[in-house]
Amino acid sequence: MFYKKSKSCYNFTKQTHNLFCFFVTIMKHIDIAKLLNNPQDWLNKTATVCGWVRTSRDSKSIAFVELNDGSCLKHLQIVLDKNKFDNTTSYLPLCTALCVEGDVVPTQKGDSVEINATVVTILGTSTPEYPIQKKPHSLEFLRTMPHLRLRTNTFNAMFRLRSVLSMAIHQYFEDNNFLYVHTPIITGSDCEGAGESFGVTTHKFNHNKKTEKEYYDTDFFGVPANLTVSAQLEGEAYAMAFGKIYTFAPTFRAENSNTTRHAAEFWQIEPEIAFADIDDIIEVAEQLIKYIIKVCIDRCSQELEFFEKFYEKGLIGKLQSVLDSNFIKLDYTKAIDLLQKADKKFEYPVSWGSDLQTEHERYLCEEIYNQPIFVVNYPKDLKAFYMKQNSDGRTVAATDLLVPSVGEIIGCSERETDYTKLLNTIENRKMKISDYTNYLDLRKYGSVPHSGFGLGLERMLLYLTGVGNIRDTIGYPRAKGELRC
Ligand code: 4AD
Ligand code: MG
Repeated sequence: MFYKKSKSCYNFTKQTHNLFCFFVTIMKHIDIAKLLNNPQDWLNKTATVCGWVRTSRDSKSIAFVELNDGSCLKHLQIVLDKNKFDNTTSYLPLCTALCVEGDVVPTQKGDSVEINATVVTILGTSTPEYPIQKKPHSLEFLRTMPHLRLRTNTFNAMFRLRSVLSMAIHQYFEDNNFLYVHTPIITGSDCEGAGESFGVTTHKFNHNKKTEKEYYDTDFFGVPANLTVSAQLEGEAYAMAFGKIYTFAPTFRAENSNTTRHAAEFWQIEPEIAFADIDDIIEVAEQLIKYIIKVCIDRCSQELEFFEKFYEKGLIGKLQSVLDSNFIKLDYTKAIDLLQKADKKFEYPVSWGSDLQTEHERYLCEEIYNQPIFVVNYPKDLKAFYMKQNSDGRTVAATDLLVPSVGEIIGCSERETDYTKLLNTIENRKMKISDYTNYLDLRKYGSVPHSGFGLGLERMLLYLTGVGNIRDTIGYPRAKGELRC
């Protein structure tokens, strides 16, 4: 990492032409993480660090600044001897950006290091009006300023974990020979058939189109277009060519449910596997979840400790126990039976054929099993059109993975491969067949058993952190009536 300072003139483009003149004096600085993670390497040396003031304290002869550069959760203490600096108060407002050179010395406790500053440069001033002052602010309050909340401890931990989690997901698929594919964000179909998609148009508000046909004929694509709710349909086409694929992409749903678990824009990881039935895909899902939890435990211990301290007691033990468990497989019919026998009053009554509400999902995995559960074989009318119909004629080979405190984190199924059955379902559901002709083609030419699932990245983060609202797992949350820039 380099900090650029405009001091000397360096002719960058000498070889080509002499028009541009670049001002670069490169001042090396190190990530605070490097210093705090390996303090012995830096002890009694000089170091230069850059960062933002997270807290500061002023006393008669010394001022203390806790500096954070985003490279780790911990702050580095900078000690400013006021006899050596003229105007230390200008360094102290929260979020002032500083470049500090100094001697690395042990902290008073001796458990880490701090810097005795010799040179301090203000890279960017701040003011006492900086809106996130030291007192603990509620997550609701922080949501009103998505651009600044990123600088707080919670979001420092959240986004490092999100990054590590994302890389772990890619690693799992890379290690297991999956092809990473990119599917379109703009599409003409509604994968889940729930009619909850956002339209894409270039028409202005005050258009003068008289009919729906005229409206779409003159629109950008000449047909209705929407943001994808799932990459699955295209993912299946890739799987029929490459065998094992996955996508990792944003998906969009205009659901009216304003809950702590639903976002209008969220990231989904969707593997699709040829020659795999429902049991095979359940195995992959369980392996993936365990793999990513393990990586997060190994690589993000500080972040998880932070979440355990402030958001969920016993979090790390919970995650650790997932690694050692075998996930339960619970038939939907048995789940209904358990719920009906439960010694508990639910807001939504349950009967065979009714969808499981969050309260039911949570009862099953928190109060009965206290671990992740795959609920399998849902009634076909509850689920999407593409799922494989079981021989009982009333259920599909589908499963949701439910986890304590969050509920569903994965939606999964074996896909219907029979052309006629699939066509009938599309017709019966009054879906527009012309939108699905290519999808149906996959059942005409070399149709094979195949299965896949969608893991919601933000729901996984809820589970990993114990944070209660999905809006705090994504930088710029989108939900009904909420769009902050
Ligand atoms: O269960 P869903 O709707 O399944 C699908 O979209 C399939 N096409 C996936 C597939 O088989 N390829 O969604 C999958 C997951 C859910 O389990 C949940 O984790 C997440 O996506 N999800 C949401 N996350 C946040 N906000 C929402 N509104 C979500 N809707 C679904
Ligand atoms: Mg689902």
